[in-house]
Amino acid sequence: MELISGNQIAADIIAELKQEVSALSGRPPCLALVRVGDDPASVSYVKKKEKTAAEIGVTSRIILPPESISQGELEALIDELNADPDVDGILVQSPLPGELDELAIFRRVLPTKDVDGFHTLNLGKIAQEDETGFASCTPAGIMEMLARSDVDLRGKHVVVVGRSLIVGKPVALLALQKKAGANATVTICHSATADLPALTRQADVLIAAIGRAHFVTKDMVKPGAVVIDVGINRMPDASRKSGYRLVGDVEFDGVAPLTAKITPVPGGVGPMTVAMLMKNTIKAHRLSSLSG
Ligand code: GUN
Repeated sequence: MELISGNQIAADIIAELKQEVSALSGRPPCLALVRVGDDPASVSYVKKKEKTAAEIGVTSRIILPPESISQGELEALIDELNADPDVDGILVQSPLPGELDELAIFRRVLPTKDVDGFHTLNLGKIAQEDETGFASCTPAGIMEMLARSDVDLRGKHVVVVGRSLIVGKPVALLALQKKAGANATVTICHSATADLPALTRQADVLIAAIGRAHFVTKDMVKPGAVVIDVGINRMPDASRKSGYRLVGDVEFDGVAPLTAKITPVPGGVGPMTVAMLMKNTIKAHRLSSLSG
């Protein structure tokens, strides 16, 4: 079994991006990070994004509206960022609290600034294999991580567990694309799938994106498979200062010995998401400077 280190691969990408940014003339790329409310996981993710941006030389603008912000006020805030020529990328941290309509907010972001890739147009561009769009960061990070770990998906059976707009659906579309590194045969499983373990056991590459701690157990995995664990779940742990530890959607200790390669949690897919966000922000900056 080989551990795929997202920490290492993301560090390599970040070093490449830092080089790229240092060679730019004019204003550096700028990413607006919008976090509504104080959800502890969102606080920590946005902090990580801010820190990585600083490391690369990407400017970040942190906007922290209160949980009481209305849909209209949040849309007006997005409109302002859309219109601001100094902002290249806009990210609204998910999940949004309360009654806020997340999909409407994702669609409000100008597609050319949608570095998260959640806008209808960018999701559609993945389906059409149009490279001018933005692929969402976690799916793009998974593809990059597989490519850099010499896992060629061509002709392989990729089984995705989870059908979310943020991970499951877009990663399935990326793996399906007719291009180098992709060309997989793809199955998506979800909560209504009959005999889910029978399908996951067919996977050459299993992508677990369910959001349930330790959902995938060893009886669900084919020996020699590559397993990508997208889950980040907080498990109560009294022995930790924080009171919890992070675990994936895969029951790592049982599954890992069976696999050819597997990603850990933490230090697997998570850092890749942040690296791809930076890559998308630099792309948005490049496209906006080309279009004037
Ligand atoms: N919440 C979980 N993953 C993501 C992500 O990639 N982007 C945003 N904006 N929110 C998230």
